[in-house]
Amino acid sequence: MSSQIDHLLNETRRFAPSPAFAAEAVGTAELYERAAADREGFWADQARDLLHWHTPFTEVLDWSNPPFARWFADGELNVAYNCLDRHVESGIGDRAALLWEGENGDERRVTYAELTDEVKRLANVLTGLGIGTGDRVAIYLPMIPEAVAAMLACARVGAIHSVVFGGFSADSLRSRIDDAGARLVITADGGYRKGKVSPLKPAVDLALADRNGLGAQETVEHVLVVARGGNAVDWTEGRDLWWHDVVPAASAEHEAQPFPAENPLYILYTSGTTGKPKGILHTSGGYLTQATFTNKVVHDIHPETDVYWCTADIGWVTGHSYVVYGPLANGATQVLYEGTPDTPHPGRWWEIVEKYGVTVLYTAPTAIRSFMKIGRAVPQKFDLSSLRLLGSVGEPINPEAWMWYRGVIGAESAPIVDTWWQTETGAIMISALPGVTETKPGSAQVALPGISVDVVDEDGKHVGNGNGGLLVITEPWPSMLRGIWGDPERFKETYWEKFAAQGYYFAGDGARLDDDGDVWLLGRVDDVMNVSGHRLSTAEIESALVGNDAVAEAAVVGASDETTGQAVVAFVIVKESYLAEHSPEGLAGTLRLWVGEQIGPIARPRDIYIVGELPKTRSGKIMRRLLRDVAEGREVGDTTTLADTSVMSIISAQVK
Ligand code: PRX
Repeated sequence: MSSQIDHLLNETRRFAPSPAFAAEAVGTAELYERAAADREGFWADQARDLLHWHTPFTEVLDWSNPPFARWFADGELNVAYNCLDRHVESGIGDRAALLWEGENGDERRVTYAELTDEVKRLANVLTGLGIGTGDRVAIYLPMIPEAVAAMLACARVGAIHSVVFGGFSADSLRSRIDDAGARLVITADGGYRKGKVSPLKPAVDLALADRNGLGAQETVEHVLVVARGGNAVDWTEGRDLWWHDVVPAASAEHEAQPFPAENPLYILYTSGTTGKPKGILHTSGGYLTQATFTNKVVHDIHPETDVYWCTADIGWVTGHSYVVYGPLANGATQVLYEGTPDTPHPGRWWEIVEKYGVTVLYTAPTAIRSFMKIGRAVPQKFDLSSLRLLGSVGEPINPEAWMWYRGVIGAESAPIVDTWWQTETGAIMISALPGVTETKPGSAQVALPGISVDVVDEDGKHVGNGNGGLLVITEPWPSMLRGIWGDPERFKETYWEKFAAQGYYFAGDGARLDDDGDVWLLGRVDDVMNVSGHRLSTAEIESALVGNDAVAEAAVVGASDETTGQAVVAFVIVKESYLAEHSPEGLAGTLRLWVGEQIGPIARPRDIYIVGELPKTRSGKIMRRLLRDVAEGREVGDTTTLADTSVMSIISAQVK
């Protein structure tokens, strides 16, 4: 990793914004000065300028009980009102909020007035079902306008949504419903993916069923179902409700009530180093302030003219902050696409850019790399001249992919913003400001105005320019996580204990500073993998593998992969009885499918090696770094702390 970054640091290409872009840019260099002079005052100004407060706040940051921050705590607002009603009231109700494209070619143009109407009706339905302040609602939907409406309706009534990515299995859904104690699940019969209907309701039924005598999932009272796929579904009378029966019939009169700024807005589960996903908790006022501000200045949103497209699914934090909350609070017009990039043809995304005249595109390096693989001839068939700004998020973008993105998609002129942030940070933290920053391919560059980061050594000391270390956030920020749902101790341990003396937030990423002090991200420092921009924990996949009857022990590592950034590689010890009866190839195939069923296709290992031993320290900890060497075809590193030093040569031989 370190030598790779040394190589990156020799990257000398620089791209200054064009004077024409700079002249029209929303973000200005002056923002840095204002924020540096008075950080809290700066955020207070953003909160006042960008949002409507039913009750104006007088307090900015309350950090009297760290690490539990409170921002704008005596203010009151309604998040949905900020994303919807106020735009209608200010006369832009006819503006398109969503330009929705179904994978099968269906289209819907949803204006701000229409979306407001739908959310008001749904809010009345939620209230009718007894859902109110603080209740949890699980959302398991495809990328359809109803998904956006569902999130906003929860926000409108003060309920807490927990969106579960539609690609997750029934088991993953169940554990998330259980952890949050959800009372309502909002789902669809199915949605279009890869040219066919991928069912969702059956996974909900399975998640809520009484399986293996474990008892039925008990907190859920109702399941609200959108008809999208047209596939047949089982129906539980009294529990299940069709959206089309109840939402249009509900009243479109609904006045948004104010809630305190620290009212919880959502829980979003993300992987940690132990098997159990962490429910990251975000609240309202500070979160919306930073999501809205960053969308405006980093994505350079001009709401009257831009057609913005963030390709993330609403199941990830990027879909929360940069499909739902930021852009809608800014009154932007955006594309929402249901399906996969290559269905029904490999140019589908570029066809959408041409069709809607997309001006700002925000996507992930993994997507860019897969387009690079297909070749430039595909995007070049389409008119991409509307694109004026490109963004990247989710993992480090290698300079080649950056240059390809700029050259082929951005016609050698669109600035690229490489944005670093996390589910926990809630909004972008490190990024160039388009129109201000001279960009460098491969670097996320600088902390945004009002954000303070550093790269430090193990003792929390600044490493200095030209050196590598651990990325920390040194001051509280408005959209920071407020905790882990139901587990305040884990929140402190995971993020705050390492640099308790300094009071820094530990992001879990390695980084280096170049000679200008710009930040270059090095990836995760723990065992968490990053596959296609999504964090997956080794522990979660290992426990799925061991859950299969054939498996005695398993270790999983992330190995670098040209397309997905990292790929899951599993080393598995199979029980003797199974080895005798099955071929290693057959077992590997079965286990790949198994992991897909248990967690979701995204977690399916690229390679599974059936081995006889795993490398362990004397205390029994698996040394994944050695397995990573094998998975990436390198010479195996230092084995001196292994309990049995001969193990690695045996494994290497077995893998060959
Ligand atoms: O390792 C960093 C990587 O993704 C992690 C956060 O993952 P998640 O919470 O799933 O959120 C992804 C979308 C915000 C980070 O700890 N990461 C994210 N953006 C970048 C990145 N690594 C390098 N460069 C980025 N721009």
